[in-house]
Amino acid sequence: MRAIVQERYGPPREVLGLKEIDRPEAGPGDVLVRVRAGSVNTPDWIAVTGVPYVLRLQGGLRKSPNVVRGSDLAGIVEAVGANVTDLAPGDAVFGSVWTSQFATAGAFAEYTVAPAAQLAPMPEGVGFEEAAAAVMSGVTALCAMRDTVEVRKGMKVLVNGASGGVGTFAVQIAAHYGAEVTGVCSGANAELVRELGARHVVDYNEDDFTRSGERYDVILDNVLNHPPRRTARALAPGGVLIPNSIGNSGGLLAGLGRMAGAKLLGMTGRADVRFSPSVTNRENLTAIGELLASGAVRSVVDRAYPLEETPAAVAHMFTHRARGNIVITVAA
Ligand SMILES: NC(=O)c1ccc[n+]([C@@H]2O[C@H](COP(=O)([O-])OP(=O)(O)OC[C@H]3O[C@@H](n4cnc5c(N)ncnc54)[C@H](OP(=O)(O)O)[C@@H]3O)[C@@H](O)[C@H]2O)c1
Repeated sequence: MRAIVQERYGPPREVLGLKEIDRPEAGPGDVLVRVRAGSVNTPDWIAVTGVPYVLRLQGGLRKSPNVVRGSDLAGIVEAVGANVTDLAPGDAVFGSVWTSQFATAGAFAEYTVAPAAQLAPMPEGVGFEEAAAAVMSGVTALCAMRDTVEVRKGMKVLVNGASGGVGTFAVQIAAHYGAEVTGVCSGANAELVRELGARHVVDYNEDDFTRSGERYDVILDNVLNHPPRRTARALAPGGVLIPNSIGNSGGLLAGLGRMAGAKLLGMTGRADVRFSPSVTNRENLTAIGELLASGAVRSVVDRAYPLEETPAAVAHMFTHRARGNIVITVAA
């Protein structure tokens, strides 16, 4: 089968290439999926570039060759493992192969293997590209808005990085729950973010939300471009800060320093700081699938790249200027 494999850490166009490799085999609890579409996410550029460097401690200081990248997918079940009883060949599914940051089974391939518990039936009336785009970005936003803070009608929610993969879902989900949403993005994306449901848009080139005097019940910070203690000053009494960025500056730690600063802020009681894991299980995939199928949210797709152009797609993600999600079309 054709797959995008990584030989070492480095710039995506230099270290990723299309190769012919053997199809993976499904273990007892796994599903072999014929991939129709994948999507590119933060863990993909981290695993390809190997920055922030400190995360290489998880993935190995030197990357082992022939690792297939990509975690999110939508496709058709080809075969199921011996213990899988609730999915069958021919089923259309979407979900994640994710088992760790540096896992070796990847979705940027014609076939991949995913744990059955991390797949759900495709939402009715939704295309493979749109479904693949909603896996990590949509589930992360859902977990943050529904579980970490339980956003309710009338709450004032600010989303920093509102025009990115996670941000476009977070704006829509918070607005769907009845919040008054403020999106922070560049002026070029203001109209998109407004159209997704933000009542207010802050162009970060014109204004600084941490200094505006406005106060928010929830701040989902997908960028961490301000020190967390300054961001926390924009919280209303009882407000919650959700730091959600590994940052994009590369180097040894990238945004991990600011994530640690946010943790300290919470530990010392100076702000209610809550980290929000993305739990990609069937329940959460089904929930985001229902939001997609009902039209309450939609996937914003910046661009769909054919499988062989995956290196360019990952490089695009690495610019941190993607408008919504970046998708890989594996088979039409
Ligand atoms: N909790 C989890 O498990 C989890 C899972 C996935 C991702 N994440 C985190 O979520 C974050 C966002 O990921 P993403 O997929 O949405 O992609 P991303 O590449 O981090 O975000 C792209 C967006 O960032 C915006 N942006 C760049 N600089 C900005 C600034 N100074 N102020 C406001 N917006 C700015 C861009 O908007 P403009 O083009 O308009 O400037 C673009 O739309 C990542 O940092 C990642 O670490 C967490």
